[in-house]
Amino acid sequence: MEVCQSSNTVVDGAGDHVECLIPAQKLAQRVGELAKTISADYADKPLLVVGVLHGAYVFMADLVRTLTIPVRCGFVMVSSYENDTVTSGRVKLRLDLTQAVEGEHLLLVDDIVDTGVSIAWLIDHLKQKSPASVRLCVLLDKAARRRAPVKIDYVGFEIPDRFVVGYGIDCAGRHRELPYVGYVLTDQQS
Ligand code: IMP
Ligand code: MG
Repeated sequence: MEVCQSSNTVVDGAGDHVECLIPAQKLAQRVGELAKTISADYADKPLLVVGVLHGAYVFMADLVRTLTIPVRCGFVMVSSYENDTVTSGRVKLRLDLTQAVEGEHLLLVDDIVDTGVSIAWLIDHLKQKSPASVRLCVLLDKAARRRAPVKIDYVGFEIPDRFVVGYGIDCAGRHRELPYVGYVLTDQQS
């Protein structure tokens, strides 16, 4: 598969045209920078990295392998999109942490903060478990769409208000496997 090289638009395995927004090497470079900062910030604190399924799984896998500190990993899953490209505004917890986190330092890792509704809900939910601290690391920030105030401690990229896919991020379950972040083009755009 061609990855954001000669042309900015690539055709994925399913024949969809995807316009590249963030190529793989730029993602890797930014993950390295975030990992360096996070490793320094938690050098003397045991850390539990909590990934938000499914969107964060590729980003989290790259991030934890680039950290220079030992961590433990856990996962949660929420849904608010119900197969649509616009949030329903109602957050449902699909999977909770399986370990007790009282007194633990948590780093929540998510793919995108859009309206902020899901992650604000999730942070509240985790704080009820009495951790020592909760910080948020997000690959993509669509700041223009924020409805719920959210403090992002570590952010990869700020992006425009357009629906993106790739690097773990899906559209109705598709395109997670792309190694870059991009926009799916409609027939008229491609
Ligand atoms: P929020 O509650 O509106 O902030 O929604 C956040 C979640 O919606 C993200 O963690 C993603 O899983 C999903 N999401 C938001 N924007 C996009 C997008 O452009 N593409 C795919 N998923 C998205
Ligand atoms: Mg998500």
